[in-house]
Amino acid sequence: METPLSGGYQVSHGSQTLSSASADVADPSAITDAVKVVEGKLNGAGLNLLINNAGVYAPVTLETVDSEEMIRTYKTNAVGPLLMAQAFLPLLKKAAQESMDKGLSCSKAAIVNISTVMGSIQKTSESFFKPVISYRCSKAALNMLTKCQALTYGETGILCVALHPGWVKTDMGTQEADLTVDTSVRGLLSVLPILSEKHSGSLLNWEGKVIPW
Ligand SMILES: NC(=O)c1ccc[n+]([C@@H]2O[C@H](COP(=O)([O-])OP(=O)(O)OC[C@H]3O[C@@H](n4cnc5c(N)ncnc54)[C@H](OP(=O)(O)O)[C@@H]3O)[C@@H](O)[C@H]2O)c1
Repeated sequence: METPLSGGYQVSHGSQTLSSASADVADPSAITDAVKVVEGKLNGAGLNLLINNAGVYAPVTLETVDSEEMIRTYKTNAVGPLLMAQAFLPLLKKAAQESMDKGLSCSKAAIVNISTVMGSIQKTSESFFKPVISYRCSKAALNMLTKCQALTYGETGILCVALHPGWVKTDMGTQEADLTVDTSVRGLLSVLPILSEKHSGSLLNWEGKVIPW
């Protein structure tokens, strides 16, 4: 069952419920505070699903980008998801250990990094009409992080994937984008339940199609 909320979705599947908590992912102490809030909501249970959605984007090119912009974007788009996963790892491990499910799944324990096809090195020439250098480099780093997380955390029962939501009508995507937020979110929500160990360490789009790294 899914219930649209202002600015998000609440999803429940059986006894499981997804709710949102916010934190500045570029601020380690805010992440620590968010873990405490989530721990309080869980009442001793583990966390099944961590979705790293925060992202920043600037219309910079190879000619116009500077070191400040590269670091700002890397901090939110790549370092943020890394720190979030580190901080929430004990709760994710708890969910994995207490689950009776075999293999890997989002209902057991999973880290979902919202990435983009623009971070795919193999697909770069198809979308390079938008150079967005800081965004591309940071999301390529996020894709590598996802692969490394899958290889490391997979052993403890945690599925790790990167998902591309499509080109979506948001502040970042602008109103020129192909997809409405509703179409993209519904697509992503229908992909989550089909994810298994064969997807861990991959980048998939909102329709569940694998995108080459
Ligand atoms: N829209 C697209 O076409 C598209 C395509 C591919 C991938 N994506 C990815 O989808 C995700 C969501 O993007 P969007 O389109 O919704 O972008 P958006 O409209 O610009 O929204 C970005 C969101 O990230 C939050 N955020 C930014 N920096 C943050 C930080 N340091 N800590 C916590 N939250 C932070 C923003 O919060 P505030 O509003 O409080 O700043 C905002 O809620 C991003 O990871 C993006 O890269 C989007």
